[in-house]
Amino acid sequence: MNVIKRCIYGISIMSLTSMNVQCKSDKKTETPATTLEAKATDSVSIAKTPYGKTAKGEQVDRFTLKNHHGMEVNILTYGGIIASLKVPNKAGVSEEVVIGFNSLEQYTKANPYFGALIGRYGNRIAKGKFTLDGKEYSLAINNAPNALHGGPEGFHRVIWTAEEAKGGNAASLKLKYVSKDMEEGYPGNLTVFVTYTLNKNNTLDVQYEATTDKKTVVNLTQHSYFNLSADFTKPILDHEVTIDADKLIPVDATLIPTGQLTDVTNTPFDFRKAKKVGTAIEANDDQLKKGLGYDHCWVLNNQGKGDRFAASAYDAGSGRLLEVYTDQPGIQFYTGNFLDGTLPMRTGGTYAHRTGFCLETQHYPDSPNQKAFPTTVLNPGENYKTKTTFKFSVK
Ligand code: BGC
Repeated sequence: MNVIKRCIYGISIMSLTSMNVQCKSDKKTETPATTLEAKATDSVSIAKTPYGKTAKGEQVDRFTLKNHHGMEVNILTYGGIIASLKVPNKAGVSEEVVIGFNSLEQYTKANPYFGALIGRYGNRIAKGKFTLDGKEYSLAINNAPNALHGGPEGFHRVIWTAEEAKGGNAASLKLKYVSKDMEEGYPGNLTVFVTYTLNKNNTLDVQYEATTDKKTVVNLTQHSYFNLSADFTKPILDHEVTIDADKLIPVDATLIPTGQLTDVTNTPFDFRKAKKVGTAIEANDDQLKKGLGYDHCWVLNNQGKGDRFAASAYDAGSGRLLEVYTDQPGIQFYTGNFLDGTLPMRTGGTYAHRTGFCLETQHYPDSPNQKAFPTTVLNPGENYKTKTTFKFSVK
């Protein structure tokens, strides 16, 4: 099997003659073969397939990024959605680890942001209102009484244009969307690029860039729901989670920050040492009651130091470990509390309560109305630039 695989990899980088050399030399170790093999197994591919048309007749494509270490990611130009993400378990078997649907139609119907890019403002803005330079802006109230995730269409229901790039050890998909001045109520024409890069070493980088022609607010994130067990009938309560945060942003009953930052010590929100999600999720705790579980933004440690470790999740059964790195100040850990068994799984059945979790790197919720929080304002001439890495391995 190995011999066959290696020969197939070889096709892209070698002539037929040298490929034969590779195949033969696989049986015996020879220096040139090792070099060729290293090159071949490092390459990451990207391929495009038409995925369908929306009801409005817009063409949607699907891009498949694939490496030789069992990782495969499918991304749609609709919403920049990660529709599928396969990674190996400890036995080397590659399986699906994100919640998703099996048709475009389903994504265009009720979709609680499965796999989607979120913007222009990820998370909630209180009462859908904020003020910039004395002018008040009003957003759609799509999560009463607040605005959530950029509005009803946001960036998760729009078509992104796509450009592919392949550079040996990595393949990238650069998505672009221009959000018009006052679209979803936000000021300024905002040009957004999101680049997904799959590396040979099972990491998926998500790079966000944006510029505006008028003062606006921006907070972009990725909304994949993970279940590292690959068994989507199973709640994620056994996953062992770490969040590198000493502080939490407590919320009111409508999930808007109270404005304080509280210490996580001796609370169900202390994930500084790995802890099963289920350990304290049902604890008698005011914040857990408000979130109906975990649905909060943590204040990440080591702020202002660029990319650093933010969080991890480990599923002992499969051995899969997900580590999240980011330069963002916060991370929303959402335990799929609103999944209620109404949305269809890819293979039949429905997604039940807490069968997926999200780790959404971001600025703090409602920052435009919270003067003490780091700013989310973007001015003309400034570049919004941030990066999040999802790194998969087994242990
Ligand atoms: C929010 C949840 C919300 C979910 C949408 C999360 O980012 O924090 O409150 O229900 O997105 O499915």
